[in-house]
Amino acid sequence: MEQMYRPRRLRRTPVIRELVAEHTFSGNGLIQPYFVTDGAGIREEIKGLPGIDRESVDKLVETVSHDLALGINKIMLFGVTDRKDVMASTAHDEANPVIVATKALKDKFGDSLFVGADVCLCAYTDTGHCGVTINGEIDNDASVDVLADMALALAQAGCDCVAPSDMMDGRVVGIRDALEGNGYVNTLIMAYTAKYASAYYGPFREAAKSAPGKGDRKGYQMDFRNRTEALRELTLDDEEGADIVMVKPALAYLDIIADFRQQSRLPVAAYNVSGEYTMVKLLAQAGLADEKTMVLENLTAIQRAGASIILTYHLRDILKNGWHNA
Ligand code: PBG
Ligand code: ZN
Repeated sequence: MEQMYRPRRLRRTPVIRELVAEHTFSGNGLIQPYFVTDGAGIREEIKGLPGIDRESVDKLVETVSHDLALGINKIMLFGVTDRKDVMASTAHDEANPVIVATKALKDKFGDSLFVGADVCLCAYTDTGHCGVTINGEIDNDASVDVLADMALALAQAGCDCVAPSDMMDGRVVGIRDALEGNGYVNTLIMAYTAKYASAYYGPFREAAKSAPGKGDRKGYQMDFRNRTEALRELTLDDEEGADIVMVKPALAYLDIIADFRQQSRLPVAAYNVSGEYTMVKLLAQAGLADEKTMVLENLTAIQRAGASIILTYHLRDILKNGWHNA
């Protein structure tokens, strides 16, 4: 058989494959998430997120110090507390564990550590919803005011980047106005721009004690049947003053990531969420698939689709095991 076209010629040896590789995995844009809780001396395992802990500020500072030595210099903080109420007042009070942690980390590590913080109300409302409930309804604009207060408090604590994950309308401009109006002109906003209502947040909600008591998040998070709607959210967040736009989750949403990369001039981030992480961990623990290969395959695919920034619980394992050099 005579053939002109033999694509396998380019796959014959590792060196040829290296020569023609279209994409090289990069660790530069990876961000490690952390869960910070009230109290002291606390470091507890999160059942649904093997290898990830919930920690009080003192323990978190130790962990981050250790992680920084490993090479993790970009982090994202999530608050966990039992102090919940109607107006999510803990979100912006001075004892909020994320605010306390931000101060402690920035005092200790300065600009050698990039500290981002999730801005949402679900960990602080008594309903577990991402906005405040007034007269039995989630009140969009009242929620934006509280989110702006939280973002401002974080900026005052030294936070480099606030990341609103609530999906209320107008939250990016609300936060931007609060920051600009108070002189915080350098605080980045990484908007969860296309955040879908997803079953893959399951382990996170256990970790953050933030599951809604009643109902679901479909009244504010996006419907996974929709693709064009994500572009509308992209336009809005860009016009409202976002610095970075995010797609979440990542793996079932590579089309959305590719759309964002094509349509936007902003850096594109993707959140490789808790359920995506735990799927990989459980397959690996069961001996059904190789963890390193799954991690590199998933994260390379997310980068190939167009995300240069990835929030991922896998980062510590990647650096510990040197997987990024493979
Ligand atoms: C808060 C928030 C959630 C996640 C990030 N910020 C949970 C949710 O929206 O229910 C999910 C992250 C993950 O699953 O890893 N709104
Ligand atoms: Zn939320």
